[in-house]
Amino acid sequence: MAHPQSMPSYWRGIPLDGIQAGILKPHGRTCLRCAFLSFHPHKPGSPSPGSHWLTSFFKLAGITSADKQIRDTLYRKEGSDRYDGGPVISLHLSRWGYEYFHIPENTLPADPFFLAGMKSDFSIEALSDPRPDRWEKAFQTDPIHVLVLLADDDPDNLDALQQSLFEGENDRYISHLHIEAGQKLVRNGNQYEHFGYRDGISSLKFFDSDNHIIPDRLPLVLRQNGLNRYGSYLVFRKLRQNVAGFKAHLDALAGKLGLSYEQTAAQVMGRSLNGASILRKPGSSTGLKYAPIDFQEDPKGLVCPFHAHIRKSNPRDAVHQSDPHQIIRRGIPYGSEYRDHYISNIPEQEVGLLFMCYQSSINDQFAYIQKNWLNSPHAPYAHASKKEYFHVGIDPIAGQSRGDDGEQNWLDAGRKRVPYLFSDVVNLKGGEYFFAPSIAFLRELGPGNRGDHPPKKPRSYSPRRSAGRRGYTHRTRRRRGRRKTR
Ligand code: HEM
Repeated sequence: MAHPQSMPSYWRGIPLDGIQAGILKPHGRTCLRCAFLSFHPHKPGSPSPGSHWLTSFFKLAGITSADKQIRDTLYRKEGSDRYDGGPVISLHLSRWGYEYFHIPENTLPADPFFLAGMKSDFSIEALSDPRPDRWEKAFQTDPIHVLVLLADDDPDNLDALQQSLFEGENDRYISHLHIEAGQKLVRNGNQYEHFGYRDGISSLKFFDSDNHIIPDRLPLVLRQNGLNRYGSYLVFRKLRQNVAGFKAHLDALAGKLGLSYEQTAAQVMGRSLNGASILRKPGSSTGLKYAPIDFQEDPKGLVCPFHAHIRKSNPRDAVHQSDPHQIIRRGIPYGSEYRDHYISNIPEQEVGLLFMCYQSSINDQFAYIQKNWLNSPHAPYAHASKKEYFHVGIDPIAGQSRGDDGEQNWLDAGRKRVPYLFSDVVNLKGGEYFFAPSIAFLRELGPGNRGDHPPKKPRSYSPRRSAGRRGYTHRTRRRRGRRKTR
């Protein structure tokens, strides 16, 4: 294992001390606050409130780097008293944030989904998303400029941090604040999500067991944004989980298939509720347990149906070059405590997933998966070489389809295919596309730098690039930040 002090902070020219924490490695904390900020507009000739807020943010908290994160992991492993274990903090800009800080066009991340925004017709139509008037109010109106992620094991620490960074005096800078609170659901040391499945099993790793970086994987997650500067796109989606609807579907389907609730749940996910794969080692009576899974063992989808969530979202060998589409999942549940999978056990409050993923291209990764795999009734096709499409149905967990051909083919006790539409158990409540730039880049947005004054001439927008700007209005009235915690 590399010793933390002897570790280089550069790997093949990539400065880890400039990359924000959470991208290459999960933050590893149990609580998360996602703070969505909109700033007051610039008054002519006066400095930007956002750049002043950033300066105080760097003074009070600062951003955790990948380098600090990995060293801290090593200190913890060796039981060193240099281990910190405190909050992990990261900051992301939306396309409107880039505009607000007057960042030159040539450094604006060019992904079409990022440029258009999640509320744009372009994104809504591509992903078959519900229109923003059906989203939560907080995501409907103001353009969100910045998303700050604060992660810690102690919710009281998070409350204090949240107060110092966003409330009180910060009213001078922030015109609108919305907080989403995430909490890991942990049972026997394992993470779960609200439908009752074990989660956090298959996540692409960028460090090997000796904590050495795996350079070949970096292009999947890092995008250069200046000389020696690397960042990553972040997709944020608040996904409400209809647990009662999910359990009712499972119950009805289990009856139709002549299988138990647990066996049917395994066909929905491709993993049992406890996380074990439903594919079995040849000649073995037990599942392959956890990752990695190779669907070549089951080319006809007779054990793990093609529509199962893990097969839909990562078909691996079923599609040519599936690798470039992988995402780096960083989501966390929201809502009340975990209730186990018994049918009568329904949470009283709204619950769901604060879905987040990093990638080097939203277009080729998150949007590709959602549009071409989860929402498509034909993907993934089993025999890529023959380019043979056949009906699979939409993803039962996260598929969104506008057509009426989403029905999946389920396997009954005799392995016969039974059509049934399992859908609408997850709904989008709002979200946005962001970019996590390098830390040096963000430091330069403070007063006296480019974030300080508005440009002399208003910018012009091409119709396509302004697609997501409908309804863009700066508030002229200063409002108290609203705090929402669950
Ligand atoms: C509320 C909605 C969702 C729930 C409850 C959910 C739940 C899960 C669970 C339980 C797993 C298996 C555990 C694991 O492999 O770590 C999983 C895997 C995965 N999910 Fe989701 N998911 C949701 C939405 C999405 C969306 C919207 C996407 C992408 C657009 C997605 C992509 C993936 C991927 C890529 C995997 C890993 C598959 C693999 O490599 O085996 N999920 N999800």
